[in-house]
Amino acid sequence: MSERVLGIAMNGVTGRMGYRQHLTRSILAIRDDGGITLPDGTRLLPEPVLVGRSERKLREIADRHGLTRWSTDLDAVLSDPEISVYFDAQITHAREAAVRSAIAAGKHVYVEKPTAATLDAALELAKLAERAGVRNGVVQDKLFLPGLLKLRRLVDSGFFGRILSVRGEFGYWVFEGDWQDAQRPSWNYRAEEGGGIVLDMFPHWHYILEHLFGPVRTVTARTATHVPRRWDEDGAPYDATADDAAYGIFELDNGAVAQINSSWAVRVDRDELVEFQVDGTHGSAVAGLRSCRVQHRTVTPRAAWDPDAADAVPYRDQWETVPDNTDFPNGFRSQWEDFLRHVATGSPFPHDLLSGARGLQMAEAGLESARTGRTVELGEVSIR
Ligand SMILES: NC(=O)c1ccc[n+]([C@@H]2O[C@H](COP(=O)([O-])OP(=O)(O)OC[C@H]3O[C@@H](n4cnc5c(N)ncnc54)[C@H](O)[C@@H]3O)[C@@H](O)[C@H]2O)c1
Repeated sequence: MSERVLGIAMNGVTGRMGYRQHLTRSILAIRDDGGITLPDGTRLLPEPVLVGRSERKLREIADRHGLTRWSTDLDAVLSDPEISVYFDAQITHAREAAVRSAIAAGKHVYVEKPTAATLDAALELAKLAERAGVRNGVVQDKLFLPGLLKLRRLVDSGFFGRILSVRGEFGYWVFEGDWQDAQRPSWNYRAEEGGGIVLDMFPHWHYILEHLFGPVRTVTARTATHVPRRWDEDGAPYDATADDAAYGIFELDNGAVAQINSSWAVRVDRDELVEFQVDGTHGSAVAGLRSCRVQHRTVTPRAAWDPDAADAVPYRDQWETVPDNTDFPNGFRSQWEDFLRHVATGSPFPHDLLSGARGLQMAEAGLESARTGRTVELGEVSIR
């Protein structure tokens, strides 16, 4: 059986996402399992070259995983003909410049979301990639998680009838950093460093809505900075300049209305940190990242409003669990495998930089709506 080694420059592997999800759980896991088998039987073996700002941290990660190549010189790595793919999981603000360099060097590019800090920059990257003829993609991992894959099954099977509405609830309490360490990096709370929950989460909501239910046409949002003062990684206090909560309403092309709350200032009373309830004429579902429960019209209880009597109906017991029926691998890894196949064979990959730019369009529209108090329409974005 023939083997093909695919060199991947991985930038941002000292970060939370870059290290855990992308390096260890995706690329190294794929390599440890012998690579990916292509349709012609070739084994495609990804070979990472670690890129970052701190030689010490890179060397430490390389040693831990038996890797031999790392560099703090991105340009030198990009000039290496053995590198075919550039991957970026740096903080959002650092992404654009690095991706531009990678495209100019003729590398295929795969990047974390949001693909850039602004819609203009995201569209420009999509254009440059198209013009250079390089394959490109953006991480849209939630689509590859069990809960949303089950939701996809339900949509595809026609379970819902006509979909009326989607209600999403995302969030958890992120500690301020003084009396307990914050569980998210401080740049997330600084607008000037690409922080903010809208920029962070609306791209996710966009691809989930678009892929499962159809294009988003309008956005109405309200944002807040509920916790204005936080403490950073060194214990120093700082002013939070970015939004830490967003309350959004999204109208879809097919008339359905989605309403999604995102907050780093709520306490969890849900089964999962994110949950979506989908209501349709024929059935409803509640999906998290892993589980999915349904209620069909034929078993819908007759709820009746009576505030004077205690309600004895066990509503939550009246839902059925959608079975796994399969093994679900890590979502980031699944998408990496699709992207690597796309690079090697040109197989379809809808999660391109243009779709990433549409996510940014929705984030910018959310911020504009919050600023102006108006509903913002999402026009067609194109790279032609
Ligand atoms: N797909 C997802 O579910 C998901 C989840 C969280 C974050 N993300 C995205 O991944 C990216 C990284 O987020 P993270 O939470 O891993 O962040 P992080 O702070 O843990 O890691 C940031 C990485 O960027 C590097 N970096 C480069 N320039 C930097 C600078 N000037 N200041 C600070 N760090 C710099 C750091 O060295 C580090 O490797 C972001 O774009 C974020 O939006 C995606």
